Amino acid sequence: MDLRVQFERGVAAWSGLPQRALPEIALMGRSNVGKSSLFNAICRRKQLARVSGQPGKTQELNYYCVDDRAYLVDVPGLGYARVSKSQREAWQRLLGRYLAEREVLTGVVYLIDARHEPTAIDQQVMQTLSSGRRPVWIVLTKSDKLSGNKRATALRAIENHVTKLPWLIAPTVLMTSSVDGRGIDELRSALWQQLGLDSANIG
Ligand code: GTP
Ligand code: MG
Repeated sequence: MDLRVQFERGVAAWSGLPQRALPEIALMGRSNVGKSSLFNAICRRKQLARVSGQPGKTQELNYYCVDDRAYLVDVPGLGYARVSKSQREAWQRLLGRYLAEREVLTGVVYLIDARHEPTAIDQQVMQTLSSGRRPVWIVLTKSDKLSGNKRATALRAIENHVTKLPWLIAPTVLMTSSVDGRGIDELRSALWQQLGLDSANIG
């Protein structure tokens, strides 16, 4: 049996964050990188998180409750250009505060398209991800679009990049695809374990 995963709320302001003391892990990355698809693959659902045709439209932290014991948070729209400057600034402030102050945030998954080098936004956000307090998974998405050789090159490039981010303590770099399933089981096990769900029946 799969774990029960339910959408709980979209959070657009600090005051809207769930007050229950459940551990949570956030999935972040630039708009269209494949966050919602990865989320669905991890939870073995077809359409739990909306896969977007219109990238980054809603800027809310989307809280999904897992088995009533933890949250996964889908963080959309990073670096999405088609919002006003003031909206973008408000969103960046919320994200900054979320990463710095959210006590129950026990891990962050940062997604980068396997076909591309980390962009300026990726580099900027990766600087704020962690100060060694919580594990970070750097996940290369859409790996089904690369040949085996190119996958190896992409993995090496990101691993090199990550060694220049000494404040990330032993980040795990993973190659995934929500289409062919590469890396999904491994990532799911790591996340469930970090959330204390490892003893649960994960199907
Ligand atoms: P926002 O919510 O707008 O920030 O986007 P997102 O990061 O949630 O991306 P989403 O999961 O909506 O996917 C964006 C597009 O990439 C969709 O067309 C997906 O079908 C496609 N996509 C996502 N993951 C994969 C993957 O692993 N392989 C391939 N080939 N396509 C993918
Ligand atoms: Mg999404």
